[in-house]
Amino acid sequence: MTKGIILSGGWGTRLRPLTCTLPKTLIPIVNKPVIERQMIHLKAAGVKEIVLAVSVMSDALKNYFKDGKKLGIKIHYTDEKHPMGTAGAIKLAEHYLKDENFFMLNGDVILNFNFKEMFNAHEQRSCIGTIASKIIDDPSRYGVLIVDDESKKILHFLEKNEYLPPNGKQVPMPINAGVYLLEPEIFSYIKPNKNISIEKDVFPKLADEQRLYHYPISGIWKDIGNPTELLQGNILLMKDILKNLKEKKNNLIDDTAKLEGRVEIFPPCTIGENVVIRNNCVIGPNVVIGDNVYISENTKIKESLIYNEAYISKNVQIRNAIISDNCFIKENVELKGNENALVILASHVEVLENIKLISSKNTPLTVCHHEKVKESIIG
Ligand code: GDD
Ligand code: MG
Repeated sequence: MTKGIILSGGWGTRLRPLTCTLPKTLIPIVNKPVIERQMIHLKAAGVKEIVLAVSVMSDALKNYFKDGKKLGIKIHYTDEKHPMGTAGAIKLAEHYLKDENFFMLNGDVILNFNFKEMFNAHEQRSCIGTIASKIIDDPSRYGVLIVDDESKKILHFLEKNEYLPPNGKQVPMPINAGVYLLEPEIFSYIKPNKNISIEKDVFPKLADEQRLYHYPISGIWKDIGNPTELLQGNILLMKDILKNLKEKKNNLIDDTAKLEGRVEIFPPCTIGENVVIRNNCVIGPNVVIGDNVYISENTKIKESLIYNEAYISKNVQIRNAIISDNCFIKENVELKGNENALVILASHVEVLENIKLISSKNTPLTVCHHEKVKESIIG
């Protein structure tokens, strides 16, 4: 049976300060790490063994997944002392993957498609790799695929910033969705013990040799590279989960959540385990709340993510924000970002009474973990 390898060793710099204490792939998406969701999809397609290519904050991943027993998958870890690049990282796992074709995933993409169908499409071709593709209106942030529409062959692979659109204006293009089905022959293209990028050093060569195909995926797809994408990705997945429920619902509210008195919920919202929301609160739309969160009276939250164990006092207003685990927000606080510039509190941040954190520009307003916010910032 096909195995899998998931890349989980990047720095996640664009998601700081969230990634100062948590590897990007462990960031919860609708209350479950993005990489765990990928593993569940792989398992559903019959994958029983997965290698996690870890580097930055590898202990956090090892402690979370251990040997994979809880998920019913066997998990191995690579020993990458420092980031070796996307191809260098998989070269370290050659001994696990050398016998048959395998899935390779960027660990930071939200998706919902049938891996088995991609596997079947790959098996029908004679090639070294099949790359999942998605048409994106503005492909400038992604690897771009120049393809032959009929045969699905990839004619050119152009990594980020290498594709120059006609007349300088971005047009929809198929992009590299960060999911591959690869033959073990790929390892002969990767020199050992070197920092090598699969997107810059390997795929362009394979495309020139006409040994790469693409597989257009349907369904949701999102790279959670920056805070705005992280929020959008949560909303996208929440809507997808709700859409696919057998019994129709507007929100995902855990049975243990206590909504006390008059609480208004504007869908879609997710509310985790043992959450308490007190009288006169207005929650939603587009809010994901983790487990053991307490929200006191008269508080309003929309377009935001609230992670586990956060304590939010009364008369607080939160919009376009990410509040990490164990944050403590005192009374009469306003945390207001905008679509392009969220307010982001890393874990264990305390915000004192009457503080306003408002970002009106294009850069997120961020607070590092364990900081106490004593002064307002209107940026
Ligand atoms: N182990 C390991 N070692 N993992 C790494 C390393 C490394 O040196 N460098 C990056 N990764 C992991 C990251 O943790 C992430 O899961 C994945 O590889 C992709 O890295 P990103 O830094 O997120 O790349 P990107 O999003 O800018 O671009 C990539 O993904 C796009 C799709 O989301 C490229 O593959 C693009 O071509 C693609 O379109
Ligand atoms: Mg990425």
